Amino acid sequence: MENASTPVVDTIRESYSARSQEYGDLFGSVASAHPLDRALIGSWADTVSGPVLDAGCGPGQWTDFMAGRGLAVSGVDLVPEFVERARKHYPDLSFEVGTLDAVDVAAKSLGGVLSWYSLIHHSPEDIRTPVAEFARILRSGGGLLLGFFEGPTVEAFDHAVTTAYRWPVAALAQELIDAGFEVIETHTRTGSGYRPLGAITAVRSPAR
Ligand SMILES: C[S@@+](CC[C@H](N)C(=O)[O-])C[C@H]1O[C@@H](n2cnc3c(N)ncnc32)[C@H](O)[C@@H]1O
Repeated sequence: MENASTPVVDTIRESYSARSQEYGDLFGSVASAHPLDRALIGSWADTVSGPVLDAGCGPGQWTDFMAGRGLAVSGVDLVPEFVERARKHYPDLSFEVGTLDAVDVAAKSLGGVLSWYSLIHHSPEDIRTPVAEFARILRSGGGLLLGFFEGPTVEAFDHAVTTAYRWPVAALAQELIDAGFEVIETHTRTGSGYRPLGAITAVRSPAR
């Protein structure tokens, strides 16, 4: 699988690699997620048919969660340590090392893509590449669920792992529309103890 190497991508990979154990211990179980995240991902998963890609799957907990709901699902992530951990914890599922900037999946071949906080490190200039990839690999009507850090303006901040970006829902929704998606629902949530949430569900528009 092609695995682009740029200074930014190398930094993301190396930063998560260095903290993969810690990240996995903190977030590597759906039990540690906000109950409404589970509800949102679960209800979205019930609207799509496979195959589904957990794009930027990290430790693979959401891949397993969706498989548990009967979906044919696999995971891809930049970080080999995450993929190793996911394969160990969920040996019946398929996980590959790869980049969301050039996904090794045929055009129009998927029914769903979950991108749960996996585009948070893409700058506003760079995010169009993986969004275009999601549009390419989804068949018409295929579903996308994007989770991200929501905020009043597009801005970079010092995420615990490496620089991340906040997005107003409307700005990220426009990126999806420009790439050929129809936005179905948007969600925001704030509150202590959990990551601030922005989430968008969208479907790949039929006109290509
Ligand atoms: C905040 S973590 C989220 C992981 C998982 N989706 C979750 O909810 O726990 C961000 C993930 O995106 C992955 N990622 C970031 N940029 C990526 C890229 N260009 N290609 C593939 N994976 C990427 C990271 O390796 C990391 O696992």
